[in-house]
Amino acid sequence: MNPGTAPKVQVGFTGEPTAPKLEVRFSEGDFELTLRDAVSPGDKFYKLVQLLRAPGADVRSMAIDGEPAAYLQQVLQYVPNRAAFALKYYLAPKLQTLVQWLVASKESDNYTYDNASSCLHYWASGLSLALGCSPERVLGYLREPIEDVALKQAIVAMYDRQPVKPLRDRIPKFGRRLAWYACARALKPKLLIETGVHQGLGSVLLCAALKRNTEEGHPGTYMGTDIDTSAGSLLVAPYNQYGKVHYGDSIETLKTVDRPVNLFINDSDHSADYEAREYEAIVRKLSDRAVVLGDNAHVTDKLMQFAWNTQRNFIFLNEKPENHWYPGAGVGVAWPKSPPVVETASGQESLTPSVSPPGPQLF
Ligand SMILES: C[S@@+](CC[C@H](N)C(=O)[O-])C[C@H]1O[C@@H](n2cnc3c(N)ncnc32)[C@H](O)[C@@H]1O
Repeated sequence: MNPGTAPKVQVGFTGEPTAPKLEVRFSEGDFELTLRDAVSPGDKFYKLVQLLRAPGADVRSMAIDGEPAAYLQQVLQYVPNRAAFALKYYLAPKLQTLVQWLVASKESDNYTYDNASSCLHYWASGLSLALGCSPERVLGYLREPIEDVALKQAIVAMYDRQPVKPLRDRIPKFGRRLAWYACARALKPKLLIETGVHQGLGSVLLCAALKRNTEEGHPGTYMGTDIDTSAGSLLVAPYNQYGKVHYGDSIETLKTVDRPVNLFINDSDHSADYEAREYEAIVRKLSDRAVVLGDNAHVTDKLMQFAWNTQRNFIFLNEKPENHWYPGAGVGVAWPKSPPVVETASGQESLTPSVSPPGPQLF
């Protein structure tokens, strides 16, 4: 579409008189789009459409629902311009990225993309509350993988080695997983769990965080769970020495965890019920400062409910994908209201004793 010229918008009505439809036709050059929307009987437009269709109708002399026709005429008069403005706002950028994506990407789910740089600042601000460290430090962590050439090369090399190329893009883009990474860097978890591994982009990123933590004197282990035995192909050397994928139903695997979990990331079965059951399965195994991240928080309120029921704080970090049609998901973040934590030279320390685990009636 040519951004320099104004698109044409036509507004009209179609359909049976008893079931009229509002039709907006948007065109520019060779591009044409028609939207039809049923007008419900309760609508002022519905009545207006019927009156306009009556033989010899003169809208100027009509009163509809007690309002002067002149008012409605005025509304109609501005519909084309307003529709053009709204359609341009949504359609032009999204259509362009949609066409690019159809040609340039092979992904059909679990889309990868970068987010607008403003996102990283908002996330740094929000995560600093959960992690008890400064936004500047969190921002540094968020940026680390973007500049981690060795990590990106390992992922690209894995792609290039495949005789049949996988249905993902060659150059890794981490999206909201950067927020997971920043949590892993700030918390220095001894055990972190990610449920739902897929190809393993989150796994390899989280293990890259554990690798850096280990080099700084804070070793930790990654545990991934996936029902699909082919999941996790991206968890390549040297990152695979920091943990592994456990195959089988996630909740069954969580039952086998026998030590405190410092960071828990939910991203397996995205049904609301399964998500809630995962939180239920892990709650008693969370350490006193554990942070819980949800990859479903743009769809359900299960993590927020979990947070409210277990005296935790909750925030949602929004995504703003760049150069992609996908509107973005986000990261739900839940963390204990107490104890407060402080930054020290060796990492973070709790100021107060552990909170007791929540009771059994919380769900
Ligand atoms: C959205 S993908 C995970 C994406 C991954 N975290 C990443 O960073 O790219 C969801 C994964 O959950 C897995 N899954 C679905 N139901 C599951 C279950 N009940 N238990 C374990 N894994 C499950 C699927 O096989 C799929 O690989």
